[in-house]
Amino acid sequence: MSNNIVTTENLTKHFGKTIALQDVSLEIPEGSVYLLIGPNGSGKSTLLKIITGVVKPSKGNIQVFGLNPWKQRTKLFQKTGAMYEDHPMPGLSTGQDFLVYMAKLQRLKDPKQAALRAAQLFEAEAFWNRPIREYSSGMKRKIALAHAFMGDPELLILDEPTVTLDQNARTKLRDLIQQGLKNKKTFIIAAHVLAESEELATHTAFFADGKAQVQGRIEDLANQYGASRITIQTKDPLQTAKTLTEAGYTKITITEQDLELAVPPGETEKIAKTLQESKTEAKITRTWIDLWAIYKQALKKSRIATLG
Ligand SMILES: Nc1ncnc2c1ncn2[C@@H]1O[C@H](COP(=O)(O)OP(=O)(O)OP(=O)(O)O)[C@@H](O)[C@H]1O
Ligand SMILES: [Mg+2]
Repeated sequence: MSNNIVTTENLTKHFGKTIALQDVSLEIPEGSVYLLIGPNGSGKSTLLKIITGVVKPSKGNIQVFGLNPWKQRTKLFQKTGAMYEDHPMPGLSTGQDFLVYMAKLQRLKDPKQAALRAAQLFEAEAFWNRPIREYSSGMKRKIALAHAFMGDPELLILDEPTVTLDQNARTKLRDLIQQGLKNKKTFIIAAHVLAESEELATHTAFFADGKAQVQGRIEDLANQYGASRITIQTKDPLQTAKTLTEAGYTKITITEQDLELAVPPGETEKIAKTLQESKTEAKITRTWIDLWAIYKQALKKSRIATLG
């Protein structure tokens, strides 16, 4: 049996003449942090809403925990937590009443306790007895996030979760994702800018014009698109660059005290040795994957394919 939590096949959504999603086929495995990136209007939120059964697809197939989310939405309720960019909340009620009401709808055992625990994840209990209509946008987002995490669901769907969040709440969210990963939870996160959660992502899909232009495991994509990078800290960037060029590395970017280098995966040690053997004072401070490099190349490829 596959361990994919979400599978889509040629998923397509039209809103009148607007094509929001077109032939999207994705597999989202259990225990992944699946990052959906793409510019405004590229279809990310539409996909998330189809996954949670709020929006009906026009064509194609989708399974979430083996179920059809549009037809069996209530069965997904207890396994899934979601935070939407336009999270629907009644302005007249308080954050506390909203969360307790939602906990009852989800049939959680002790709704008041479940709501309190969820609010505490983002320190929302400090203001949750005030009416929602008085909240700042970050406060609303904290209640929406608490709602998503309430009841400890297996699948979490988060639409632009860090927008308007303060640093403290961002760190808390990051910790929760990290903790969830250890417990085999699955996260689907949409973003148009990259934030802390990017570093935790295991898979990604880049959306443009309603299509997933590139998708898969981040490590595989980094190999395929040459997007593995290392950062080298040095007092003598020019000399270090010269040493590296002589050793055959050409894709070097020099900043004030750093060098950035595109490297084939697994060559970090070889480069460390090269640096050690040269007389320059230099050390590798970070090994990372440049998601934007993958994105840019994928877009270029798709444009060429369209033109051709
Ligand atoms: N309810 C709707 N009615 C009509 N058009 C819609 C509706 N929802 C989305 N769309 C259209 O579908 C397209 C994709 O929108 P979507 O909200 O999925 O994009 P997004 O990638 O989430 O963008 P953003 O980064 O701005 O949140 C857009 O052209 C949008 O105008
Ligand atoms: Mg959106």
